[in-house]
Parts: sequence; C-alpha cells; structure tokens
Amino acid sequence: MNVIVTESPEQAFSQAAGMIACEIHSNATPVLGLATGRTMESIYQILVQKHESGTLDFSKATSFNLDEYIGLSPTDPNSYRHYMQEHLFAHVNISAKEIHVPNGTAPDLDAECAQYEAAIRASGGIGLQLLGIGETGHIGFNEPPSAFDTRTRVVQLDEVTRRQNSGMFGNDPACVPERALTMGVGTILDARKLLLVAVGVGKAAIINEALNGPMSENVSATAIRLHPAYTVILDEAAASIWM
Ligand code: F6R
Repeated sequence: MNVIVTESPEQAFSQAAGMIACEIHSNATPVLGLATGRTMESIYQILVQKHESGTLDFSKATSFNLDEYIGLSPTDPNSYRHYMQEHLFAHVNISAKEIHVPNGTAPDLDAECAQYEAAIRASGGIGLQLLGIGETGHIGFNEPPSAFDTRTRVVQLDEVTRRQNSGMFGNDPACVPERALTMGVGTILDARKLLLVAVGVGKAAIINEALNGPMSENVSATAIRLHPAYTVILDEAAASIWM
C-alpha cells in the first residue's frame, strides 16, 4: 500500500497530476482510466496547464471514463461526457476517436456495457485508473453492495450519492438520474495501476473505512487493497481519521 499524505489539497492534486503525466510519458500508447467529480477538476486543470506549456502530449493516449448517468446525452451539460469535454478533452490533443465514455443513451444498455468491456480489452487494458471516492464508499458508481468481481453494468444510484451529486442538478436530489452505467469493481481492479485521490475533512470517515475497515462489498473502495499497485493520495484533512 502506498498512501501519500500532503499538507494541502493543492499538493495532492499536483502529485496526482504528476503521476498521470508520468504514465503518459512512460508509455508509447498510454491507456488512462478517468474519473469525474469535484476532486478531479483541479487535477485536470493541472494536466491542461502541462499540455499548454508544451510538457504533456496526449496524442498517443486513449481514455476510458468510469461512468455515466443513464438518460443524459453526451452533450447534456450534466453528463460526464460533457464534464470531460469541458475540463480536459477540449483543451488537450487527445484524439476524439480514442475517447471512451459509456453512452447513457444507448438503446441497449447491456450491449453498451459489453462493448465497453470489449473496447477496454482491445486497447490492451487500462494502465492507470484514476479514482475518487463517494460518501457511500463507491469507486466509479459501484454503490453498496457491489461484488468485487462486477463488470461494467447498469446500477441504481444510492440516495446518498444522488444527494452528494445534486449540486449540478439545482441542489435537488430528485433531479439526479436514478441509474448509471459504471465500470465494475472487477473492471477497475484489472487496471495495471490504481490512483485514488481524496481531499477534505468530508472524506475522512469514508477514507478510514476504505483503508482500515473490513474488506466489504458494502464499501467498494476497500477492494483497492486487493490490488498489487495502488496509490492513495490524501490531504491531511482527508487522512485525519485514518492517520
Ligand atoms: C465519478 C466517480 C465517482 C467520484 C466520487 C467522488 O466519475 O467515479 O466515484 O469520483 O463520487 O466525487 P467528488 O470528487 O465530487 O467528491
């Protein structure tokens, strides 16, 4: 286990961006697993700055996002595909055909999930998977309970998560889609490296459960401890109960 605790959130974001940049630099055809959410915004901002200063080239990179809301089109301002465009893809030289986000409006959602798994396999597998952690302990949208061998699938979002994510939906949890597509815990564990980032005191309790609590399908983040190469980057506030 490699847990890095930084003095400030900014340092956590900067170290995470540095690891992603390293992954891109050290692979001829890097395959990145990406996440969305508030935690990732600053990390993507740093990656964009690195690209704009000429030190980071995404031209050979492929990306797979963890999840997407069901029912939101890729251009919907609340979709994760749109989030990625706004925070990263529009500002770097990643090839559009190498961007993968599950399609939450696919007519056959099970077929979409199977195709997503196949596309990850065809890419050679994810090299580095970036992860946040939700209040329910989810990684991706693997809400409790999520077996550790689950694959990309349709999930029902927990009420806690719908409240957590309601900021983008007029602060009304009822407006947050009820279902999503997500890579499974097993899909995530297949990545060659995992990088989980959490900042702020609001994440302290769930980080403690994820790193110290019993392995449990009710806290899907505990599964990362099964991975041979995972790194967790926390600021002091997020680490405060765990330490
Ligand atoms: C989003 C995702 C989620 C978030 C988690 C934390 O693609 O996979 O697991 O990483 O909900 O979200 P924030 O960073 O908004 O606290």
